[in-house]
Amino acid sequence: MLNKKVKSIVLAAGKGTRMKSNLPKVLHTIFNKPLLGYVLDAVNGIGNIDDNYVIVGHEAELVEKYVTSNYDNAKCILQAPQLGTGDAVNKAAPYISGFDGYVIVVCGDTPLITSETLKNFIEFHDNNSADLTVMSAIFENPKNYGRIIRDRNKKFVAIVEEKDATPEQKAVKEINAGIYCITWNKISEALKNLKNNNAQGEYYLTDIVKWAVAQNLNVQSYILDNNEEIFGINSKVQLAEATKILNKKSVVRLMENGVQIVDPDSTYISPETTIGADTLILPNVYITGKNQIGLNCKIGPFAHIRDGATIGNNVRIGNFVEVKKSVIKDNTNVSHLSYIGDSELGSHVNIGAGTITANYNPITKVKSKTIIKDGANTGSNSVLVAPVTVNEMASVGAGSVITKNVEAYSLVVTRAPLKQITNWVKNKIEQLSGGNK
Ligand code: UD1
Ligand code: CA
Repeated sequence: MLNKKVKSIVLAAGKGTRMKSNLPKVLHTIFNKPLLGYVLDAVNGIGNIDDNYVIVGHEAELVEKYVTSNYDNAKCILQAPQLGTGDAVNKAAPYISGFDGYVIVVCGDTPLITSETLKNFIEFHDNNSADLTVMSAIFENPKNYGRIIRDRNKKFVAIVEEKDATPEQKAVKEINAGIYCITWNKISEALKNLKNNNAQGEYYLTDIVKWAVAQNLNVQSYILDNNEEIFGINSKVQLAEATKILNKKSVVRLMENGVQIVDPDSTYISPETTIGADTLILPNVYITGKNQIGLNCKIGPFAHIRDGATIGNNVRIGNFVEVKKSVIKDNTNVSHLSYIGDSELGSHVNIGAGTITANYNPITKVKSKTIIKDGANTGSNSVLVAPVTVNEMASVGAGSVITKNVEAYSLVVTRAPLKQITNWVKNKIEQLSGGNK
C-alpha cells in the first residue's frame, strides 16, 4: 500500500491534426466512449486518486463539457496557446503547489492503458523511492517517439525527441511512453526552468529528466512488457487499430468466462459488458456501452445492443434486433427485426417479428417507457407507442398500433377487420378480357 497521495494530470489540449476532424482528438470514441474517458477511468481505477487535472486547449469547451458531466473528481485547466507538454503540465502547477505526494502524468490519447499497469508503475516509483519515473517500452519501430537515452553505465540520463535525435539516438529502441510519475515537491522546480530551444520550439516535459539527473535526483525508467497499452492514437487508422485491440481483449475475456463466440473477428463487445456462461454470440453482433447479459442466452447474428441493457438468462435476441436502455427478464424472446428501447420486458414474453417500441417523440424530444409484463406477447409488426404498458399474459394482435395500456389476459387488435371478396380477381380478369373483344 502506498502511503502517499496521488494526483493526476491528463494532457488533452492538443488538436490531433492527423485525425483530420472537427472533433478534438480525445473526444473520438471507441464503443461510444471518448478516448479521454478510457484514460480517466484507468486513472480513477488506481484507487487512491486525490484529484485529476485535465489540460484542455483545442475545442476546450467541448472537452470540458464531457469531463465535467462525467467525472466529479476532474478539473479542467485551460492551456492556450499550446506550447508543448512541459507547458501543459506547468499549467496545473499552481493547483498542486506544496503537494507532498505523487503526480502521474498521462496523455489523453492512450485509451489502452490499464489501472493495473498504472498501479504497478506508481508502486515501482514508490518502492524505489524515486523522484521521477518514466514509463518506457521497447519498440521494434520506435519512429516518432522520444528515445530513452542511457549513458555508458546504462544509467537513464535523458529523453530525446525524434526530431532532435542524432542518427545513433534514433537507433535506440527504448521509447518514452509519455507516462510519468513525479514526486512533486522534488521535480516541480524543473518545470520553471524549461526552455524551448529545440526542433519544435516547444517546452518539452521530457526535459525534466535531464534536469533531475543534473540535480542528482533518483530517476528511473519502468519498462512496460505489454506495448499495446501505451498505443497512442494520432489518426483514424490508429483509432480503428485500438478498437480492434480493445475488442480482442474483451471477447477473449468473455470466452475465458464461458461465453461462446462463433466469430470473434466480426463480433464487437464493449469492455463494460458482462455476459454469463453458455451464452452464444453469433457473428456480426455489435454491443456498445455498459450492459449485463445473463447465462444461456442466444444473441445475433446481426444484433445491436446499444447501452444500458440488462438481459436475464435464457433470453433470445435474434437477427436485426436493436436493444437500448432496457430490462429483459429470463426466458424472453425478441427473435427478429425488432427495436426495444427504454423498455421493461418481463419473463416469458414473446416479441413478434418486427415489433417496435416507439419510445421517442421527435416534437417534444421526450423518450418514454414501454412495459411488457410476464407472459405477454406481441404479434408481428406491432407498434407500441410509449408510454404504454402491456399487462401480464396479454396478447397484442399482429399489425396493431398500441396507444393505450392493455389489460392482463386480454387480446388487443387495432387493424381493420379482414374483408374477403370472393372471386374478385376472377371477375376482374373476365372484365378485362371482355373489354378486349
Ligand atoms: C510525446 C513525448 C514523447 C513520447 C510521446 C509518447 C514530449 C516532448 N514528447 O510526444 O517523448 O514518446 O509523447 O506518446 O513530451 N499536449 C498538450 N499541450 C501541448 C502539447 C501536447 O496538452 O502543448 C498533449 C496532447 O494533446 C497529447 C499529449 O500532450 O495528448 C502528447 O502530445 P503530442 O504532441 O502527441 O506529443 P508527442 O509528439 O507524441
Ligand atoms: Ca502523441
